[in-house]
Amino acid sequence: TVPLKKLAAAEGITFGTAVSASALKQDTEYAKRLDAEFGSVTPEDAMKWAVVEPEQGEFDWQGADDIVNAADPNGPDGQEVRGHTLVWHSSLPGWLTTGSFSETEVTTLLREHIQTTVGRYAGRVKTWDVVNEPLNNDGTLRSSLWLNRLTDTYIADSFRWAHAADPSAVLYLNEYGAEWSGPKATALYNLVKKLLAEGVPIGGVGFQAHLTGSSRPDGFAAMLRRFADLGVDVAVTELDVRIPTSDPAGTVATTADLDSQARVYGQVVAACLSVPRCRSVTTWGFTDAYSWIPGGYPGWGAADLFDADRVAKPKPAHTTVANTLL
Ligand code: G3I
Repeated sequence: TVPLKKLAAAEGITFGTAVSASALKQDTEYAKRLDAEFGSVTPEDAMKWAVVEPEQGEFDWQGADDIVNAADPNGPDGQEVRGHTLVWHSSLPGWLTTGSFSETEVTTLLREHIQTTVGRYAGRVKTWDVVNEPLNNDGTLRSSLWLNRLTDTYIADSFRWAHAADPSAVLYLNEYGAEWSGPKATALYNLVKKLLAEGVPIGGVGFQAHLTGSSRPDGFAAMLRRFADLGVDVAVTELDVRIPTSDPAGTVATTADLDSQARVYGQVVAACLSVPRCRSVTTWGFTDAYSWIPGGYPGWGAADLFDADRVAKPKPAHTTVANTLL
């Protein structure tokens, strides 16, 4: 079979996946499949603040470096790297969330985190998820250390600091649950419009697309187009399609559910292909052997393009994605 990355490149988009640093290190089959099939990699956890600075001033870049080095983004057959994620309410180190810092200190810590992380990978990370999940489902701004201590100006400031650290990187606002109309999508649209009007260097909007086998992504293409019309790139950044599973490991599903899942995957890829400024589709992991879903949604799983049994065995969803890219 032709690798997804080749099929996608022929259609003018990049097909990528999230990568687990520990799986990359321990599992050669995983590393081979990653290299063969995907044109872009997103560290699933390795660049999060809790991982890179577990104690204040003590850094651990091992997992992130391993992923970027394996991708070899500037090499002849290199993969693009999507950096993930600089400013998020979650996966913050304990010293930061429990420490008593003044507003000025919080500002400095955030600016330095962005400068250090973006600066380290400047020229190698092509796109950054700068601000992740800033909204609640009702469209209000999500409570976080950043919003609560710095007010909503943290969003514009973060983009400006990231831009200064690597002017060539394309900077994304990344959100879930905004794939079709609703209060969150409306709020996201208004936020992006406002940031652009203020001259904030936002280059793209990422739609995570954590979906289920019964999702109906009919409105997704229109939503991508609506944002693209604002003058930004758009991308599918964390696609997975979870289905009910009968085992605790979340790997055993029915044929009917695997077929529904394939349809949803195909619809999402088709939506991206139909919008010229949709740059990439990234799946949030590629094998059911290493998936956040059974932990995050007990009773659900089998969300990826390859099963858990043999990393190399494609599921119906893989076939549908390949056919959609043809
Ligand atoms: O590596 C440690 C391990 O040493 C420790 O024993 C274990 C005990 O809990 O935790 C391990 O780290 C976990 C890590 O996943 C690796 O498995 C963290 O606790 C856990 O919080 C982390 O979860 C990640 C989650 O984000 C929170 O950061 C998931 O892997 C990751 O898939 C998920 O990804 C997010 C995106 O970043 C943003 N959008 C939603 C998406 C899904 O929640």
